[in-house]
Amino acid sequence: MEQTFIMVKPDGVENGVIGQVIARFEEKGYKLLQASVTTIKPELAEKHYEAHKDRDFFPDLVSFITSGPVVPMVWQGENIIEEARKLIGATDPKKAEPGTIRADFGSSISTNVVHGSDSKENALREIELFFNTRFE
Ligand code: RTP
Ligand code: MG
Repeated sequence: MEQTFIMVKPDGVENGVIGQVIARFEEKGYKLLQASVTTIKPELAEKHYEAHKDRDFFPDLVSFITSGPVVPMVWQGENIIEEARKLIGATDPKKAEPGTIRADFGSSISTNVVHGSDSKENALREIELFFNTRFE
């Protein structure tokens, strides 16, 4: 069964929507395998977002994701990587489809509530990065 890495970002925690994000995944029948509440260090943030290290927004992205508590999670389900990206919606909440997490709870391209892995390879990489383990 496929697994993905989902993380409620500092704005989602600050705005009190952790429960609503979790509910969206539970309503789809997905299983929560692991979760924590933590404030991540810049080193971990830089590894997590290393694909974007040469972009001009990278320093702001690292600064934002380390600015307060986040909720990293591992979720499991059929085709969950792609389906989770649909549930989350487009990067910019203003462009996200109505009914998606980002359209409903996001406020800007940086404060967009939640992260979701974009491929199998990145799901495995991110799960190992945050939880130091694989879930069989
Ligand atoms: P995420 O990785 O956080 O789930 O978001 P995503 O796949 O939808 O977007 P991605 O391209 O991976 O970008 C990671 C985060 O960087 C910020 N970003 N800012 N033009 C910009 O200012 C810009 N582009 C991306 C966003 O906060 C995005 O979530
Ligand atoms: Mg991404």
